[in-house]
Amino acid sequence: MLYRSKIVGMGMYLPENVVTNHDLEQLMDTSDAWIVERTGIRERRFFTEGKDTTATMAAEASRMALDRAGLKAQEIDAIVFATLSPDYYFPGSGVLLMRELGIVGIPAFDLRQQCAGFVYALSLADAYIRLGHYKNVLIACSEIQSNLLELSTRGRNMAVIFGDGAAAVVLTRHQQEGLGVISTHLHADGTYAEELYMAHPGCRRKVRITPQMLEDGSMLPYMNGNAVFKHAIVRFMEVIYEALEANGLQVEDLDMVIPHQANLRISKYIQEQLQLPDEKMYNNIQWVGNTTAASIPLAMCEAWEKGLLRPGMLVCTPAFGSGFVWGSALIRM
Ligand code: UT7
Repeated sequence: MLYRSKIVGMGMYLPENVVTNHDLEQLMDTSDAWIVERTGIRERRFFTEGKDTTATMAAEASRMALDRAGLKAQEIDAIVFATLSPDYYFPGSGVLLMRELGIVGIPAFDLRQQCAGFVYALSLADAYIRLGHYKNVLIACSEIQSNLLELSTRGRNMAVIFGDGAAAVVLTRHQQEGLGVISTHLHADGTYAEELYMAHPGCRRKVRITPQMLEDGSMLPYMNGNAVFKHAIVRFMEVIYEALEANGLQVEDLDMVIPHQANLRISKYIQEQLQLPDEKMYNNIQWVGNTTAASIPLAMCEAWEKGLLRPGMLVCTPAFGSGFVWGSALIRM
């Protein structure tokens, strides 16, 4: 029996608290002009404590995706949850999402693939559906990163980029070759793990949290922005061409590229290299910032809501992030 997967519902959730570049100017030595020129970002959302958690945001997005798919939560056979900012150190947020949705008993996978989280989640869900194990899989990607940022001049290189948000996708089984998830391509290289990472509180030390860590900022994420940028643009291009070549396709066959929203300059570079017209590239980093695992499904959902993603369109979703991990998916909508 031939089994393939396709997207039948997408949903998203953005916290209500909008933080503009001008708001950040009040907190650190930065400027709207610098942020717009170097990243393309104009505003992002920060979660509201007591209202939003990584799991509840995912639940909001999931309910929307399930509703649009015409499915009840009880009809989901498995959950794949991608985040670098789970509610708890353990257990993962997958089980919390199940609880929010009122379902018990199905498996929940938690993926820690950072900015490539969605592509890895899609690949896993697609593989299970192809094997015939599951019919409907819910992919939830959700991040609360604003409380990992130091909103000061010391933390400005990361503080201006990242935002909070969630998105969800329902994948379902079908039997038509060439429709839905065509292929996924995943990679990783731990050589550069410490170029974008958060060391503490890890499990390497007997005492996981010390006053010194709190003081010297080593409990905050670290990013070597230039190094990440340089690797990202190479891997983004490689993995787009890998997806095309694996399927005997050309750049001209693509109807839309929705890259991980790392930095608008990275997206512009990809667009220029591929010589894509504006209508074949979708970006929303300007309004939501870099939302890590949630960024591709958020952009996809938004593009779909605007009527820009239509049935039959061929979409490529390349991603790159901390690990380094990277990958792409080719999807026929
Ligand atoms: O999504 C996961 C993967 N992440 C990424 O792909 C991010 C990739 N990296 C980037 O997006 C960029 O490297 C950044 C946006 C983080 C930084 O942009 P950049 O063009 O690489 O700037 P830079 O780090 O080379 O810094 C240039 C200057 C420095 O000043 P000097 O040394 O030239 O005097 C920085 O201190 O800009 C300064 N700077 C800032 N100024 C104002 C750094 N951050 C800021 C800031 N506001 N927020």
